[in-house]
Amino acid sequence: MKMYVRLLALVFALFVASDGISFADSAPTSPDSYPSPWSAGGPDGWDDAYRRAHEFVSKLTLLEKVNLTTGTGNQADRCTGNTGSIPRLGFRELCLQDGPVGIRYKGIGFAQGLDLGKRKTSGRIISFSNNPDLNSAFPAGINAAATWSRSLIRRRGEALGAEFRDKGIDVQLGPVVGPLGRDPAGGRNFEAFGPDPYLAGVAVAQTVEGTQSSGVIASVKHYILNEQEHFRGGISSNIDDKTMHELYLWPFADAVRAGVGSVMCSYNKINNTYACENSYVLNRLLKNELGFQGFVVSDWGGQHSTVASSLSGLDMTMPGDGAFNSTYGSYWGGALTEALLSLAISPFRLDDMAVRIMAAFYKVGRDTKQVDINYSSWTNETVGPQYWRSKTGNTTVNKHVDVQGDHAELIREIGAKSVVLLKNKGNVLPLKKPSSIAIIGEDAQDNPKGPNACVDRICNVGTLAMGWGSATAEFPYLISPAIALEKQASADKTIFSNVKSNWDLGAARAAATNASAAIVFVNANSGEGYQTLDGNFGDRKNLTLWNGGDELIKAVASVNPNTIVVIHSVGPVLIEHVKTHPNVTAILWAGLPGQESGNSLTDVLYGKVNPQGRSPFTWGKAAGDWGITTLVNSSTPQPQQDFTEGSFIDYRYFDHEGIEPSFEFGFGLSYTNFSYANLTVKPQDVGPYEPASGTTKAAPTFGGINYDPLSALLPEGFKKIPGMVYPWIASPEIPDDTGGPDFPYAAHNRSAQPILPAGGAPGGNPELYKVVYVITVDITNTGVVSGTEIPQLYLSLGGPAEPKVVLRGFGEVPINSGETKTVAFNVTYRDLSNWNTEAQDWEVTSYPKTAYVGASSRDLRLHADL
Ligand SMILES: *[C@@H]1O[C@H](CO)[C@@H](O)[C@H](O)[C@H]1NC(C)=O
Ligand SMILES: *[C@@H]1O[C@H](CO)[C@@H](O)[C@H](O)[C@H]1NC(C)=O
Ligand SMILES: *[C@@H]1O[C@H](CO)[C@@H](O)[C@H](O)[C@H]1NC(C)=O
Ligand SMILES: *[C@@H]1O[C@H](CO)[C@@H](O)[C@H](O)[C@H]1NC(C)=O
Ligand SMILES: *[C@@H]1O[C@H](CO)[C@@H](O)[C@H](O)[C@H]1NC(C)=O
Ligand SMILES: *[C@@H]1O[C@H](CO)[C@@H](O)[C@H](O)[C@H]1NC(C)=O
Ligand SMILES: *[C@@H]1O[C@H](CO)[C@@H](O)[C@H](O)[C@H]1NC(C)=O
Ligand SMILES: *[C@@H]1O[C@H](CO)[C@@H](O)[C@H](O)[C@H]1NC(C)=O
Ligand SMILES: *[C@@H]1O[C@H](CO)[C@@H](O)[C@H](O)[C@H]1NC(C)=O
Ligand SMILES: *[C@@H]1O[C@H](CO)[C@@H](O)[C@H](O)[C@H]1NC(C)=O
Ligand SMILES: *[C@@H]1O[C@H](CO)[C@@H](O)[C@H](O)[C@H]1NC(C)=O
Repeated sequence: MKMYVRLLALVFALFVASDGISFADSAPTSPDSYPSPWSAGGPDGWDDAYRRAHEFVSKLTLLEKVNLTTGTGNQADRCTGNTGSIPRLGFRELCLQDGPVGIRYKGIGFAQGLDLGKRKTSGRIISFSNNPDLNSAFPAGINAAATWSRSLIRRRGEALGAEFRDKGIDVQLGPVVGPLGRDPAGGRNFEAFGPDPYLAGVAVAQTVEGTQSSGVIASVKHYILNEQEHFRGGISSNIDDKTMHELYLWPFADAVRAGVGSVMCSYNKINNTYACENSYVLNRLLKNELGFQGFVVSDWGGQHSTVASSLSGLDMTMPGDGAFNSTYGSYWGGALTEALLSLAISPFRLDDMAVRIMAAFYKVGRDTKQVDINYSSWTNETVGPQYWRSKTGNTTVNKHVDVQGDHAELIREIGAKSVVLLKNKGNVLPLKKPSSIAIIGEDAQDNPKGPNACVDRICNVGTLAMGWGSATAEFPYLISPAIALEKQASADKTIFSNVKSNWDLGAARAAATNASAAIVFVNANSGEGYQTLDGNFGDRKNLTLWNGGDELIKAVASVNPNTIVVIHSVGPVLIEHVKTHPNVTAILWAGLPGQESGNSLTDVLYGKVNPQGRSPFTWGKAAGDWGITTLVNSSTPQPQQDFTEGSFIDYRYFDHEGIEPSFEFGFGLSYTNFSYANLTVKPQDVGPYEPASGTTKAAPTFGGINYDPLSALLPEGFKKIPGMVYPWIASPEIPDDTGGPDFPYAAHNRSAQPILPAGGAPGGNPELYKVVYVITVDITNTGVVSGTEIPQLYLSLGGPAEPKVVLRGFGEVPINSGETKTVAFNVTYRDLSNWNTEAQDWEVTSYPKTAYVGASSRDLRLHADL
């Protein structure tokens, strides 16, 4: 009877569409979008993956499907997150593991009873042994982007994937394109590929393809608009439709087109609805418009509802517990089973959740590449509990499998090729057997307690090679610059001195005074907002150097006319005074290079590698130059952050406002010079853009559902692991209010649905990717050494409200001295388009368009009208 009443309520519920609300309203809303699109298959292996996923899911019971969708609880099992298993079919739990730069053997306590992120500080830190377990620590995302090298970024993804695969991990929690980097102080920007959506899009696609080719599902995160750490669990990022499409959604489209198997929804709200239950961003934008075929997993603790999250497009909850003190200690598990039995959720939705998870599994070949999980996230001991939280199930948890392969070489190469040479007065670099060098600063040194001394790298001791938070891995070792440079000095018979403190300016000056080169190391750190470091709650509280870096540079440069400054930082720092200092001859940004830091840097300083890094962000002269302020104070539990600047972030803002930066986006020097000539534009005969049309199929279902609540009760004799989340219900009396508010009929409508004009395939309408112009340019190496140029294509899309130029192409061109090479750029419909909010489609406007090719966003050497 209850079920019948519920069904009627659903059928008669009205669908109330929301009006467009401007930011003048203090709380804009997201329109509803139902039903949640069911997976449709697609090219590049999706069709085959779907066929097999359908076959598999058809065999599953309701409880088994629920088990696939629900994590068994924080630290319940060996990985950062584990789903339930399907013992009947010999299908083990899925293992999801942090993070974007390698395997993180560590956990920050997701303290029970706290809603992660809702408060300013969330959770207590639980410290575990943090020994590395024969894994690598890769350069951060921001360094990968700084190489501007598709092949290096792809190989980084492959190598990461191989390490995760060989430990038995099914899903790598990375790469990151959210935050994109709206706020230069944003704590997690370094995890991602910089604030330009085109560069981020290329980088994320290469990473996803690399990782997944190694047989591991990539989970691109954090979807979406998680642009600052303060209040990340409650803040509402309010955004207009055009900016959403042209900026923040853009790289996610590239990830989806690259076949990403998983997308992680973020902690924040978008237009006042949590990302993990926002039907507009999940159902409409991600699954319908972008045609995402994989599964959406919640960020850890990012789920806030049982029915709303499912109907809005969430497919898997992690770590599984949540809804603390409720019957099930989870929004899903038994609670999801109840919601199915009460018809609050239609069977086709659960089937789609399970199918999407399994399709991603088959898409990357987990069925043949999966090995047993042979490590534990929570202990480095060989024998220990499989079920960490309950400390039960003692077994050989760590087989100490060495997964490093020859990745150290790749890490060293990426570290070197991501160095951005910002200044090189009188070609003081590369160094050629100088008679003496003085190394100065804490940032050049080893951490005396070891590179992993601080839990999740929440400290700034010794050289900075990784930010802090969940995007960390344990260093197998960390080559500090001082160690690497001392080795080089000894080989060259160079007198070597090393001042380890930032604060003993007398010692710094003394060492620098007569050195042929004084190399000063400085840094600036940031991280994830569950812990404060020196007053920085994840987000940076300022954009200056840390620990007296500015004073140190000044002291050294006051006595040495050949002062070389090396910066390890998460993003831009204010260094105009360094740039203009007459005694500072060279500046290098080395970012967060990972385990080979010192070797990578030495390769560049001594010319073994000719720098090809280009800045993946703009370096302003003052903190206000970016026009963005981190929201750090709020008296309301629902802080509102209006993205009123639209797409004018980073160089788009500097260009628009006419602000002169210290160094612009795309800038970087080489040890040689390049000249540009012969820009050509060849229109391609591809016909006009056709919006997608037609309808999907009706939602399929796989395997029946046994609606007898008795069949969903815990089987007699089953011994639960204490504290673990299970799919069984507590009582055969199904409560009538499992769903909270009733959902419109549309959420349960399984009939064929219209395809959106911009949709139709993974990545959006395939028409968008048709090449409309091929642009070529001839580049000559006019210097005396060979080097790699990164020519950049920028477009002006025209129109009064558009950025001056936007990046739409780049190359990586190794050229020998005196040689000329021709570089080609493909310009697609998408590259030329703006988002038309009326048509809800991409459109090439009638405004005149210009193509520019040059060496940075402000060094636009050649141009042509399109
Ligand atoms: C957010 O609200 C704005 C203003 O009402 C609207 O233009 C936009 O489409 C909404 N976006 C989302 C994702 O809800
Ligand atoms: C669900 O997963 C748990 C944990 O792996 C397992 O113990 C249980 O048997 C599974 N339940 C069903 C119905 O398969
Ligand atoms: C859960 O219950 C415990 C003990 O009764 C209480 O201290 C805690 O605040 C509750 N947590 C939530 C999220 O309600
Ligand atoms: C991880 O351990 C499992 C056995 O537990 C083994 O099958 C697998 O090959 C191991 N991985 C590697 C790379 O040795
Ligand atoms: C585990 O880590 C602890 C603390 O770092 C260390 O003392 C111990 O030797 C490690 N054990 C193994 C098996 O590596
Ligand atoms: C599990 O193994 C650990 C380490 O060997 C030991 O200290 C502990 O007593 C064991 N627990 C059980 C329940 O056997
Ligand atoms: C630097 O060199 C000068 C001239 O050779 C010498 O007089 C002076 O003592 C040296 N200073 C230091 C600090 O080594
Ligand atoms: C900026 O913050 C860093 C890190 O907390 C600190 O070391 C530095 O002194 C601050 N800069 C200024 C100018 O206060
Ligand atoms: C540059 O270095 C010289 C020593 O070689 C020193 O005399 C001069 O004051 C320095 N210039 C500045 C601006 O610090
Ligand atoms: C420009 O193109 C012409 C014709 O192909 C060629 O002769 C010339 O060398 C090119 N110039 C440069 C600088 O590459
Ligand atoms: C440009 O497009 C052509 C096909 O139109 C393709 O073969 C080529 O690989 C593309 N080049 C790049 C750099 O994307």
